[in-house]
Amino acid sequence: MRIVHTPVMKEEVLSFLKPVSDSPVMIDCTTGEGGHTEAFLSAYPELKVIGLDRDCDIQKKAIERLSCFSDRFEPVNCWFNDYLAQAESESADMILFDLGISIFHYQESQRGFSFRSDENLDMRLDKSQSLDAETIVNEYGEKALADLIYQYSEERYSRRIARRIVEEREKGRITSASALADIISSSVPPAYRYARIHPATRTFQALRIEVNKELDRISPALGQAIRVLKPSGRIAVITFHSLEDRIVKWFFKERAGSGEIRILTKHPVTASEEECESNPPSRSAKLRVVEKC
Ligand SMILES: C[S@@+](CC[C@H](N)C(=O)[O-])C[C@H]1O[C@@H](n2cnc3c(N)ncnc32)[C@H](O)[C@@H]1O
Repeated sequence: MRIVHTPVMKEEVLSFLKPVSDSPVMIDCTTGEGGHTEAFLSAYPELKVIGLDRDCDIQKKAIERLSCFSDRFEPVNCWFNDYLAQAESESADMILFDLGISIFHYQESQRGFSFRSDENLDMRLDKSQSLDAETIVNEYGEKALADLIYQYSEERYSRRIARRIVEEREKGRITSASALADIISSSVPPAYRYARIHPATRTFQALRIEVNKELDRISPALGQAIRVLKPSGRIAVITFHSLEDRIVKWFFKERAGSGEIRILTKHPVTASEEECESNPPSRSAKLRVVEKC
């Protein structure tokens, strides 16, 4: 089995999250291929990790990778907000959220997450749900499409992109990631088309967020995570774009104001220069940590 994702800020996360009891439990809300979980299971021989992921395919990789830890790793296939809503109060020493998707999704999932691929526009983490990216691109009205692109990626050309998508889909259904990327490229001004970031980057992010309802899950999950933590337990959240980070930042500020938690990272922690060099996705990562009072 090939591991393609490098865990972001692994050392920083390890230094913030520590067991607070004799039979420690960690909930890794976004296990992915299991990079962070493996580091924690190796660091703490008594630790048990409940590893959540909604994606069955990537979870299979984590199960294989972590099989050497036998029942110290318990995989659960679900959305993290659903799991935490029914989890026992004060049952976890530490809870980790490493939001978004994994390199696995871009390189191996074949679900059209990468605009460079010729794959079907799918983007579902939960393959049993009916809403996929192809449905959104071909069936949402022009205004709804423009609004979601703007809202979930702050794409300044959202209206032009939505208009061009609607024109193109009248000629035939848009089914592949690369076809959509070409349509987006052709709808923006040349200076933007050849800028450092591919012009489809933001729209693809917006579609993925809409398909998986990524932003809607964060605040409910954080609220439940505080309840599920043992006193003095900690929550670490790694975000990869400003929309996620804003939600986390304001949620923690509000709960710190009501005395439930203490913020341990006044400013978010970012990856070291060396890590940014060796693992480019870490460049946009921000780590925030809180402790339950
Ligand atoms: C950035 S990756 C995690 C990488 C992991 N920490 C590692 O070291 O390999 C995020 C993972 O969380 C999963 N995921 C994203 N949102 C989720 C949610 N709301 N509930 C459950 N799993 C989610 C994705 O399928 C993906 O595998």
